[in-house]
Amino acid sequence: MTDPETLPIVRTVHHLRAMVYAWRREGQRVALVPTMGALHDGHLGLIRLAKRQADRVVASVFVNPTQFAPHEDFETYPRSEASDAAALTQEGCDLLYAPSADAMYGPGFATTVSVQGVSSPLDGLARPHFFGGVATVVAKLLIQCAPDMAIFGEKDYQQLQVIKRMAADLDLPVRIIGAPTARAEDGLALSSRNAYLTPDQRQIAGMLNKIMAAAAEMVAEGGWVQTAETEGQAALLAAGFEKIDYFEFRDSFDLRRLGPDRADGVPRLFAAVWLGKTRLIDNRGL
Ligand code: PAF
Repeated sequence: MTDPETLPIVRTVHHLRAMVYAWRREGQRVALVPTMGALHDGHLGLIRLAKRQADRVVASVFVNPTQFAPHEDFETYPRSEASDAAALTQEGCDLLYAPSADAMYGPGFATTVSVQGVSSPLDGLARPHFFGGVATVVAKLLIQCAPDMAIFGEKDYQQLQVIKRMAADLDLPVRIIGAPTARAEDGLALSSRNAYLTPDQRQIAGMLNKIMAAAAEMVAEGGWVQTAETEGQAALLAAGFEKIDYFEFRDSFDLRRLGPDRADGVPRLFAAVWLGKTRLIDNRGL
């Protein structure tokens, strides 16, 4: 295990590349786990998966301003570099890359990576700025680090599909790996934003996964997609969720809407719901 005192932290592309290129010259495979910090067990599961797949693991912590709209929680997003570094050290991570916003977006920065199609529905409608910000920063992180593979959680399933599309379209020489969603005991998907929930909201939040499971089961057993969606939405409001951005079955690969008998794709259920100021997202296959 890495000595807790010695997890190196680098803040510039120059220092990042010096370490990664040295490992790669020795024939070691490098995995990158991009994060925005406030690490929880879901993130640490990604590090564990990375350690099984690669010889060296780099985690990045960067709260990316360009994926937040002005009214969103960029300023208040939890930041905890010291405890993140300690947790990464415990997991045997080899390097933490934590650039400043000025280092990431230098003077005159003017480029955006825009992924058509898969970015458009769901969070693309609810948060129109979001996937441009994500695709741009992930493209930069992949080019800066040049890992053999990069690992992302399936909790942000649409984000994962956007990143896979981008990496394929831009011929980025990296394998994009999706990791299953880590969940609390009551099924709530782990997320840094769960920290915003009051105890009462946290109780209600546990119902999301159960309501999604019931809707997915209904469709898996041959029920109508639209009925499962309508009943699921009613159940969410009855459970105490205040607003629903979406609760929809879509194709697992290109996130297209499916026909009523869903024979034209592989259905997956996507949800985004609000409790007070907190927006929770989740997804599940049948
Ligand atoms: O999922 C996240 O934490 C972020 O969207 C990511 C992929 C690190 C890009 O900022």
